Amino acid sequence: MIRVLIADEIARIVGDLEKLEPYRDEVDVCGVAHQASAVIEEAWLRQPDVLVLHERFADLPPSDFAAHLASVSPTTRVLLMTASATTEVADTWAAGTISEAAAGADLLEAIRVAARAFPHGVVSVVDTPVPGEGGAAAGQARREVRAPVGRATVIVAFSGKGGTGTSMVATNLVVILAHGAGARAALVDIDLQFGDAAGMLHVEHHPLTAADLAAQGEDIDPTLLDDVLATGPADVRVLRAPSSPELAEAITAAHLRAIIRATARASDFVVVDTPSHLDERVLEAFELADRLLLVTSYNLSAVRGTKATLLMLEALGVDLDRVDVVLNHTRPRTNYRREDIEEILGRRILVDLPYDPRVDPSLDSGTPIVLAQPRAELSRRLNSLAELVAAPAGTTETSALDAPAPETPAYRRRFSLGRR
Ligand SMILES: Nc1ncnc2c1ncn2[C@@H]1O[C@H](COP(=O)(O)OP(=O)(O)O)[C@@H](O)[C@H]1O
Ligand SMILES: [Mg+2]
Repeated sequence: MIRVLIADEIARIVGDLEKLEPYRDEVDVCGVAHQASAVIEEAWLRQPDVLVLHERFADLPPSDFAAHLASVSPTTRVLLMTASATTEVADTWAAGTISEAAAGADLLEAIRVAARAFPHGVVSVVDTPVPGEGGAAAGQARREVRAPVGRATVIVAFSGKGGTGTSMVATNLVVILAHGAGARAALVDIDLQFGDAAGMLHVEHHPLTAADLAAQGEDIDPTLLDDVLATGPADVRVLRAPSSPELAEAITAAHLRAIIRATARASDFVVVDTPSHLDERVLEAFELADRLLLVTSYNLSAVRGTKATLLMLEALGVDLDRVDVVLNHTRPRTNYRREDIEEILGRRILVDLPYDPRVDPSLDSGTPIVLAQPRAELSRRLNSLAELVAAPAGTTETSALDAPAPETPAYRRRFSLGRR
């Protein structure tokens, strides 16, 4: 078994995980680093045999990088991934190079060759600080451990592919939680560029959006938050996505964390609707989530996207107990069975949502189907889903919010859902 750490942008990591998935019995992706500043720290934590490092992530100058890497993980060999098609060994510190466009079999072969190569030896490691023992740059990249706040349950709905019904699930779920449970429920739309949840909850004319909160920095005033949140059906509070891509661009992962935390303090439930791609902001939401719902549908590319997302969450060290897959029928007929999809994913489906032609008009009119058609089978299943996810993390298991800081490996502490 070759243990591999992948250091690259999230989107490419997801692609590489998909490429390597058929070779799981030979290659174990033991971790990923999705920020250049975290590469050394991740190598130190995981001690991989091979570091697949995208050239844009190689913190240069290369000789310093190689020395630093060798000091924290001496047996790790570097396979440099390049944007160009050239596969010549670029430098002596890398055991090999591979094009980012290479097929899975070629990537596997390059990993095999790199794993057999002699590690890049470095003589002088005396001055190189070890991450985690103070001042190292990589140490500063470590995410802070979240302090517990409030008791809101944060539920994040995500799909690796658009059009699977993520927003349909998120908007119906939040309405059920507000309506049935009489709880304070809020929907935060972090599909910052194309968010349409406001329209689905009939508050698209509300003038204030997430951009107005981000403008205030990371210290969010509760009164301002109350003004910015619109009020939709069943008194659901809604945080609209910004009205233009430029405004969306200005919202950082840190802003988003502050926004979700502030909303969680003012609510019993926060449902987060997400875009269909992964970026730092979406990962931030994952990290704050008590429950993560991966919405998939009956088509192969959606299921593949969900599979890749599961692989990436696993490589990130996320506790998969808090992750569930929801299977949604967006079309009246399908060629697949639920069992086929469970087999591809290697996981049970939590809830199967039927097709209902009334979904589209309900989304367009801003009245979620659970209110417009409460007796529909789809509404019944959405209610079951709400019941399953509404139990606050901690009622069925030891709460991550209450527990004292556990003696777990640092990478678990850094990325376990539900810690904030
Ligand atoms: N169960 C369903 N039955 C019928 N149509 C559905 C169902 N779920 C979703 N749809 C339709 O699929 C489309 C995509 O849904 P949406 O929630 O916007 O997906 P996403 O947020 O994942 O992009 C919408 O037009 C919606 O009406
Ligand atoms: Mg959506």
